[in-house]
Amino acid sequence: MDNLVIPNHIGIIMDGNGRWAKERGMARTYGHKCAVSTLKDLCIYMADVGVKYCSLYAFSTENFKRDLSEVNYLMDLFMKVFHKEFDFLMEKDVKVLFSGRREPLPEKVLKSMDELVKKTRDNNKLVLNICLNYGFQSEIVDTTKKICKMYKDGNISLEDIDEKFIEKNLYQSLPPLDFVIRTSGELRLSNFMLYQASYAEFYFPKVYFPDFNRNEFDKAIIEYNKRDRRFGGIK
Ligand code: IPE
Ligand code: IPE
Ligand code: MG
Repeated sequence: MDNLVIPNHIGIIMDGNGRWAKERGMARTYGHKCAVSTLKDLCIYMADVGVKYCSLYAFSTENFKRDLSEVNYLMDLFMKVFHKEFDFLMEKDVKVLFSGRREPLPEKVLKSMDELVKKTRDNNKLVLNICLNYGFQSEIVDTTKKICKMYKDGNISLEDIDEKFIEKNLYQSLPPLDFVIRTSGELRLSNFMLYQASYAEFYFPKVYFPDFNRNEFDKAIIEYNKRDRRFGGIK
């Protein structure tokens, strides 16, 4: 990893857990469980190699369309992981933020999220933005409502609204995404951070998320370093 540029803000669409489990003759939920170990090691590695911001797509607003048993399993898993398995975040100086709607997340999950945010709020090596019950379409609706209210209350004028202002008023005020990785070979964003990804580079490895290990991450960074980013200018 020496001499390679590490993207400042990486987005990871953690896809393929169900197929990974199915290939092993197991229930889809087994894939979600195994994805947790992959994720933990990846976070440790990202903190070590100097990633500053990482947005993780954990559960979309549309994922509520799944069978209730899978949704319930995931909600339980989130709660347990946030409570018990994220102690390493303190050691690695990782700060957690969440993006997404609170409604209709169960109270126990919301509580574990709030506790994690509070516990890690003074950490500052890596910011982990967990997108849970997140959808970009909801984000732009919620942001529009928030800005309309500021306008109505007389706190801003129309001239205050520009691209940076919108960016600052999304669920979290974060720098733009530089690199978006979606595992499992699907070539779509599925409602993930469209505003923030306007000039991101995209990478779609075939591996399912539970197999996205340090070696796969290195491959992704090598690929990122081959890209020629122009931002609309001419080089
Ligand atoms: C990603 O894996 C995890 C979530 C969306 C919560 P999937 O559950 O989408 O797995 P596949 O894509 O069906 O294999
Ligand atoms: C996107 O994956 C959401 C997450 C990884 C959390 P999905 O598996 O839900 O996306 P689609 O349905 O294949 O587009
Ligand atoms: Mg999927």
